[in-house]
This record gives sequence, C-alpha cells and structure tokens, in this order.
Amino acid sequence: MDVLVHPPTLSSEVPPDIGPLALYRREIASGTLVSDPAQLSAAERLHALWVKLRGYDPPARLGQNSLFRRFLRRKPVDEAQSHTIHGLYLVGAVGRGKSMLMDLFFAAADVPRKRRIHFHAFMQETHKRIHAWKQANHEGTDPILPLADALAEDAILLCFDEFQVNDIADAMILGRLFEALFERGVVVVATSNTLPDDLFRGQPGRDAFLPFIDILKDHLDVLVLDARRDYRRARSDTGHTWHVPADGAAEVFLSTAFQQLSEGAPVKPTVLHVMGRSLPVTRAAGGVARFSFEELCARSLGAGDYLAIATHFQAVVLDEVPILSPANRNEARRFINLIDALYEHRVKLVASAAAVPDGLYPSGDGAEAFLRTASRLIEMQSDTYLALPHLT
Ligand SMILES: Nc1ncnc2c1ncn2[C@@H]1O[C@H](COP(=O)(O)OP(=O)(O)OP(=O)(O)O)[C@@H](O)[C@H]1O
Ligand SMILES: [Mg+2]
Repeated sequence: MDVLVHPPTLSSEVPPDIGPLALYRREIASGTLVSDPAQLSAAERLHALWVKLRGYDPPARLGQNSLFRRFLRRKPVDEAQSHTIHGLYLVGAVGRGKSMLMDLFFAAADVPRKRRIHFHAFMQETHKRIHAWKQANHEGTDPILPLADALAEDAILLCFDEFQVNDIADAMILGRLFEALFERGVVVVATSNTLPDDLFRGQPGRDAFLPFIDILKDHLDVLVLDARRDYRRARSDTGHTWHVPADGAAEVFLSTAFQQLSEGAPVKPTVLHVMGRSLPVTRAAGGVARFSFEELCARSLGAGDYLAIATHFQAVVLDEVPILSPANRNEARRFINLIDALYEHRVKLVASAAAVPDGLYPSGDGAEAFLRTASRLIEMQSDTYLALPHLT
C-alpha cells in the first residue's frame, strides 16, 4: 500500500482548493500540531509547488508499444514543463516533521496521477520489475526506459519517504532511472535524513554514483527542515512495550503479551514468500509473530524480508535486543531496516532489550541513522502509535 496518510487526523479526501499550507494551519488551529516556524516555512515552499502542480498532466499516457512512445523516449514529453517544475528534497534530523509535511502536501496535491511510497519499497519493486523484464526474455534490451514509461504512466507526482541509498545495486540503477523519469516530466518530492551530497558517501563505487547526485540537484530544490525538536520525543503517553533488561521477568512479560495480542490463537510455524525465497517464521499466532533479535538481525535478511514481516503481521514480539558495538554494524543496519519497516506499516512492537533505545548503538558505522531508529522506538511505545491501524 502506497498511499499512507500521516496520523493523526488527516483524511485523504482533501478538497482541491485546499493546499498544504492551509492544511498545516488547520492542524495547528485544531491543536493536533504545535506551531513551528521552520515547518511553517517548509509548508510555504510546499504550497508554492502545490500551486505550480495544479492540473499538471504531461501527455505521457500512450500505449506501451505505440510509435509515439518510442518517439517520445528520445524527445522528452514536455521539455518546458519538466524543466520548470522543480521537486523538493526535504532533509533534516529525525522527528522534525518531514514526513508529516510531505503527507499534507501529497493529500492536497491536485494532480491526476500521484503516488507516495517508502523509498525502500520503491527499490524493492524496481528490482522486482527489472528481474521480471529480464525473465520475460527481452533479449538483452535495456529495462530502464520501459520501467520509466510505466512509472510515469502510473504517477506524474512521486513522493518518496526516507530517501536513502545504502546498496550498490540501487546506486547503479538510480541515475538512469531518475534521468528517464525527469525526462518524462515526473516531479519528485522526497524526505531524507541525508543531504544529496552525502548520499552513498564512503561506499565503494561512489564515483559512479556522483552523476545521480547532480541529476537530483538539477531537478529538486533542497530544503533543510530545521524544526525545533524531535516531536516524537515530545509525547508524554509512552507506555510499557519496551522491557529492560531482557531477564526472566521480561520473558514472562513478552510471553503474556504474545498470548494477549494473538488472543490465545494456537502458535504455529509459518512461511512467508519473499521474491522467490522462503522466510520461515517459527512462532506465529493470529496475526502476531515472535522472533528473537538473533533470528531477525544476526542472519542475512534484507529490507524485502522486513517488509514482508511488516505487511503480514500486525504485531511483533521481539526478544533480547542486545547493546550493539561497532563490530555489530551489520546487525545494527538490519535492525534499522527492521524498525523502519515496522514503523512504516504501523506494526505494534513489544520487545525486551539490554538498554533503552538511545543506549542500543552508541557508536559505530550507521550510528547516525540509528538516531532515527531510537526516535521511532520511543514513538512506537506511545498510546497514539499503538492505537493506529496496521497498514498492509
Ligand atoms: N509541529 C508538530 N507538533 C506536534 N507533533 C508533530 C509536529 N511535527 C511533527 N509531529 C509529529 O512527530 C512525529 C514525527 O514526525 P515525522 O514522522 O514527520 O518526522 P520526520 O522528520 O519524518 O522524521 P524521520 O527523519 O525519523 O523520518 C509524527 O508523529 C508527527 O505527527
Ligand atoms: Mg520521516
């Protein structure tokens, strides 16, 4: 599911004459959000983009195999428009309201075809579609242009939450894919914790990735959201779903939680299917799964596995999250991906751990990204989060 409207109050049915700035002001007036000057100025920028985009519909809706389509591939759909409408890249520290603002914008955007997707999910889908293209025996033809055609046909506005590049396989595709999307007039809005210039920094193969950064900066204005605080930490309704330490009492607590969440359903092993592979789940009951940290993060699972877990189960019980040292960088990276997927799909998490979220990964590769994870783990304990419906 792509269309994910941010909590707490917004409905996706926004009248066409109400823009993101008006929506932001409405949330402040109703007391759902507190006023923040940096957010207000970001909302103004999004409003300006919203105005430019009204009714934007470049003529990309031609059949896959039409002659015109092939012709258009060489000649951008509408050069003037695609080069004048710049998207927006909202970047900032965790919990500053980037996703909230982008979701207000997305809900208000008055374009016929729009899509909001988590960047991880988008990359998963991209690899899947490229794989399918190759399987379909297209005799070595390039999958990127037809993929861009299909994406542009689905959505002329693409909103990406949590834009980040950690994977060389993603890095190698992105430049050409985005160039082709921009040529087709697609406008991109993204949120990220990383400035474009810092994407994929320090990773092998970065030189080949640099042209993508230029393409991104050519088509998106970068806006740093320097809001007052991490609003996730402002919540006062934090409950007891994170149990420290992971001792005998925690084990009893987690077992009780597992039973209650699954409403006493029988515990059985099950298997999830992820891109042609099988992911065994040893303990599942009534929409709830129980895993140890070891099972989920000490093995070579990836974003696709975590996404499958997050869409399949409405609650996860997680045993024995340890304190991670710099030597556990892979476990830390997987745990970050796991929590991103669970959070994005509003999966309820009950866990036992050796430390509170802020103390889990104090230093090491990716400790910066872990700040978001800690912030999320705190929000995931709140009554407000626990009351949200699961998004499959
Ligand atoms: N001005 C505000 N007043 C009250 N709550 C807010 C405000 N801004 C954001 N929030 C809430 O704080 C939480 C974090 O906001 P959001 O998810 O948009 O942050 P983010 O910048 O996208 O963080 P991350 O980088 O971790 O993705 C959300 O539950 C959001 O509704
Ligand atoms: Mg966000």
